Amino acid sequence: MPNPRILILGPPGAGKGTQSANLAEEYDVEHVTTGDALRNNKDMDISDMDTEYDTPREYMEAGDLVPDDVVNAIVEEALSEADGFVLDGYPRNLDQAEELEGMTDLDVILSLEVPREELVERLTGRRVCDDCGANYHVEFNPPEEEGVCDECGGELIQRDDDNEESVRNRLDVFEENTAPVIDHYENNESFVIIDGEQPPDEVWDDIETAVDARVE
Ligand code: AP5
Ligand code: MG
Repeated sequence: MPNPRILILGPPGAGKGTQSANLAEEYDVEHVTTGDALRNNKDMDISDMDTEYDTPREYMEAGDLVPDDVVNAIVEEALSEADGFVLDGYPRNLDQAEELEGMTDLDVILSLEVPREELVERLTGRRVCDDCGANYHVEFNPPEEEGVCDECGGELIQRDDDNEESVRNRLDVFEENTAPVIDHYENNESFVIIDGEQPPDEVWDDIETAVDARVE
């Protein structure tokens, strides 16, 4: 079978980025992530798309969704170039889910489930490498040396939207817009619920078992 097409769903802080890195390595697929793509282009001019703000930055710092036209274009281009992928951060509302259906089929749909209070702790304690993007947590997954990336020696920083106010808004936006997307996929034969509250290695074991069962 060609390289798998995997969708990973879940609330902010569920571990989508953490587990996508494992998936990309194990199955030799592209990590397509709207969050990282937008963070790398925070100041791009989107004013010609008739949006409320002129760049993605304002939406992201508040924890609101960037307009659909902007993200649909990013995903369409990335998927057209990928030979197998793990898609993380998209679709985030039902309109985006409909767009995705016109772009590709999916072999596995993973839904990471984690309770809300745990998510707040994970996000406010997250640190990210400014150079390679590797993810850490001050308590749950600390680097060997504080503030320094184990992978590449880069500086660990806190994301602009990982303060408590933005985090709570992101969780509300998830409940309102993205929870219905998960309900939409629930009856799909490729859909699997993963208990995302376990330690990262155990979450990975469950993901690997689920993917292997669907891509043989
Ligand atoms: P995005 O970057 O996608 O952020 P998010 O959905 O809020 O998700 P996160 O990246 O915060 O969490 P994650 O699930 O990847 O968790 P992680 O593995 O890092 O989007 C950011 C913004 O971009 C949005 O708010 C929006 O403005 C815009 N945007 C993006 N896509 C869009 C779209 N499609 N439409 C419109 N706008 C869009 O883990 C979190 C922490 O927990 C880490 O510290 C990690 O070390 C730790 N951790 C991970 N797993 C475990 C575990 N099992 N146990 C304990 N700790 C763990
Ligand atoms: Mg992420």
